[in-house]
Amino acid sequence: MTNTGIAMIGSGSATPPVSLDNQRLSQIVETSDEWIASRTGIRDRRVADPQTSLCSLATAASKQAIAMAQIDSSEIDLIILATSTPDDLFGSASQIQAQLDAPQAVAFDLTAACSGFIFGLVTAAQFIRTGVYKTVLLIGGDILSRWVDWSDRRTCVLFGDGAGAVVLQASDCDRLLGFELRSDGSQNGCLNLSFQAQPQPLIDQITVSSGTYQPITMNGKEVYRFAVKKVPEVIEKALFRADLTVDQINWLILHQANQRIMDAVAQRLNIPSENVISNLANYGNTSAASIPIALDEAVRSGKIKPGDVIATSGFGAGLTWGAAIFKWGV
Ligand code: ACO
Repeated sequence: MTNTGIAMIGSGSATPPVSLDNQRLSQIVETSDEWIASRTGIRDRRVADPQTSLCSLATAASKQAIAMAQIDSSEIDLIILATSTPDDLFGSASQIQAQLDAPQAVAFDLTAACSGFIFGLVTAAQFIRTGVYKTVLLIGGDILSRWVDWSDRRTCVLFGDGAGAVVLQASDCDRLLGFELRSDGSQNGCLNLSFQAQPQPLIDQITVSSGTYQPITMNGKEVYRFAVKKVPEVIEKALFRADLTVDQINWLILHQANQRIMDAVAQRLNIPSENVISNLANYGNTSAASIPIALDEAVRSGKIKPGDVIATSGFGAGLTWGAAIFKWGV
């Protein structure tokens, strides 16, 4: 019989060694530790130096996840890299495949901003459910420091760099209990990292565009309103699909964007703060990496144990948002 259930059997994470705390940020823009910590919960973040690539962080996180899963990289059938900041716009997943020496694996990038890990998890699950692939490496990684306007205090204080990874494997017992994904492009303008075209006349009537991506722009208040309304809804929907109630959740792991968003969502769902996993103070918002880094730290510290029920939700640019309910481990 083909196993088409999904088990999450390994995790890993990697962040750059360079810290940029609020104190030092206040020497770059007019801000303060007090302002940033009280509005966001962030105290520190890691930033990648020019030698640190997204692939190097993603590969380091992946190696840890593969070791925890006790598999060989040659067993991996599929690698999904959820990122908005690839080293190469043609895709970076294949470079990771090469660095991991996983010749069997097909590899591709997936972009859904801060929802990337959840969208990647559900995408990976479809390949396992249909019996096409058995072992999937899912990575969420971003180096947003490349695309932050370091003179804009409204955004530069929020973000950090990192990568997290999980190994998913086909199992006779399905541990992905429910999910729900959503998008609303009508609100796209709230949060952007857009290409800015520069017209470049080529010949006769033909003009093409060269140019580059512009730094991140964000309407913070709109994003805040969106998150506190939509995230509880999508978690409730995923719980409904899982046939579970809130009191059956052991842990809530939200995209680590803002402590106030996490507190508001937990309060709305009636989840006690001790069941909410937060490492935002140390890393800031690492976009697609934030959920797998938080998951990995909680697993390695022994907080999350095999069989624990985890409700997780990502939300961000697109706008995109989604939730997944799963049990950790085999
Ligand atoms: N330090 C000091 N002052 C600041 C800073 C800063 N870092 N940033 C903004 N201010 C000032 C502004 O200039 C403004 O001053 P003014 O009134 O004199 O013009 C004042 O503080 C209020 O600015 P707002 O942008 O209205 O600040 P707000 O209270 O909304 O807080 C924040 C900003 C923390 C971003 C909030 O909107 C928020 O939590 N938004 C949620 C969005 C989020 O977390 N995004 C993360 C990325 S998106 C994602 O991952 C989903």
